[in-house]
Amino acid sequence: MKHRILVIDDEQNARDALKTILTEEGYEVGEAADGEAGLAALSSFRPDAVLCDIRMPKMDGLALLARARADGHACVFVMMTAFASIETAVQAMKAGAEDYVTKPVDVSSVLAKLEKVLEKRALKQENELLRERLREKHKFSNIVGESTELQSVFDVVARAAPTRATILVLGESGTGKELIAQAIHEASPRRDKPFVKVNCAALTETLLESELFGHEKGSFTGAVGRREGRFELANTGTLFLDELGDVSPGLQVKLLRVLQQQEFERVGGTQTVKVDVRVVAATHRDLEAEVKSGRFREDLYYRLNVVSVTLPPLRRRKSDIPSLVNHFLERYGEVHGKKLKGLAPGTLNALLSYDWPGNVRELGNVIERAVVLARGTELTSDDLPAALRGPRPTSRSGDSLIPGATLYDIEREAILRTLELVDGSTSRAADLLGISVRKIQYRLKEYADAQHTAEKPHVN
Ligand SMILES: Nc1ncnc2c1ncn2[C@@H]1O[C@H](COP(=O)(O)OP(=O)(O)OP(=O)(O)O)[C@@H](O)[C@H]1O
Ligand SMILES: [Mg+2]
Repeated sequence: MKHRILVIDDEQNARDALKTILTEEGYEVGEAADGEAGLAALSSFRPDAVLCDIRMPKMDGLALLARARADGHACVFVMMTAFASIETAVQAMKAGAEDYVTKPVDVSSVLAKLEKVLEKRALKQENELLRERLREKHKFSNIVGESTELQSVFDVVARAAPTRATILVLGESGTGKELIAQAIHEASPRRDKPFVKVNCAALTETLLESELFGHEKGSFTGAVGRREGRFELANTGTLFLDELGDVSPGLQVKLLRVLQQQEFERVGGTQTVKVDVRVVAATHRDLEAEVKSGRFREDLYYRLNVVSVTLPPLRRRKSDIPSLVNHFLERYGEVHGKKLKGLAPGTLNALLSYDWPGNVRELGNVIERAVVLARGTELTSDDLPAALRGPRPTSRSGDSLIPGATLYDIEREAILRTLELVDGSTSRAADLLGISVRKIQYRLKEYADAQHTAEKPHVN
């Protein structure tokens, strides 16, 4: 497809020269003689890239760029400036330009820069598309979480999922490693092919070996017929090696070979089996430490670690708690036929101040138990395990609005109550309160931390 380039310059000679060169290079070229005409052409010509002079009468290049960005035009901008000064460059970049060239324009450098920024733009669009697709998949696979910590995990997953790369998923127990492994498969071109899971910690070395690679008839006592292993079952699809940190050294060698060569022999067999399998591995162990202590092969570690993501523990992303709580309220409300309206005042606070050593799994269990035990239509802190109840740091609902409460307390009450109202969605709460999601996330962290450090009761 021909890329469209818009040339904006008040000098006709400069425009003509650029137009000739760019047309010869196979671009479709539009032109405008000043900033205002340029702005109009952004909508009518819809360029992929804009070559824009900075100094022009009426609206100058930087003002035009600012307007274009404010109007949401996604085309890339390469600015042209008569003298290269760091200041101009910085100004242009700040205003949202991708690059700049100096005048008189050097043909090869402007072509090279155009090509580079267009390529970058294509990549960015592709990533956005993938991320979008992954986001939809998330809803489907029920991965909940809006924290920046989790979003950056999604980001890596979105980029790596469509490839064949081996992905190592790390994180404490209960942080959602298995969910991520499934999401990787679903966001890959293999999504309609098998997703096969093996728990490497659940079997003895011998059994695990035949589970992974299969065995030939009579290869060991009890091996009555030939059996295909998980690698064969996962052919053309994805194999999820869970608790990989628990695999014995003998098997580690064999795994390394399959990962490198995509081939192996069944237990008791001599015939080499070829497979096309994408591997996702997970462990709650600190693999690097295991390597240092000699329990895990370094070469296998590096082979697995091509791309790795680490799921942060829940205590590091407490801003995910409100939406997770809502997610579990809904899920267990359905399971137990007991639909609750939401959380009573103070409950979210109690959930936020706990440390969650068992991570999301523990949170899920706590909410399930609370749903089962709840007497009323709202979940109260009395429905939570004793460890979570503790002294209540905030006053009863509404009290903080009385004279004498600090603005900070009022804000805290407003944020927590709004979150309860909108089912824990930080983005919706941010909308309602007219503040940024970041601010809410930041505050939630603060509230959680404050309760750990300050043991003194809160006085209003
Ligand atoms: N972000 C999330 N959104 C919704 N549910 C989650 C999320 N993270 C984890 N869970 C739920 O928490 C439980 C534990 O998740 P999962 O089994 O993926 O954890 P894990 O890291 O594999 O744990 P382990 O190391 O103990 O195997 C599951 O029930 C899962 O559905
Ligand atoms: Mg797991």
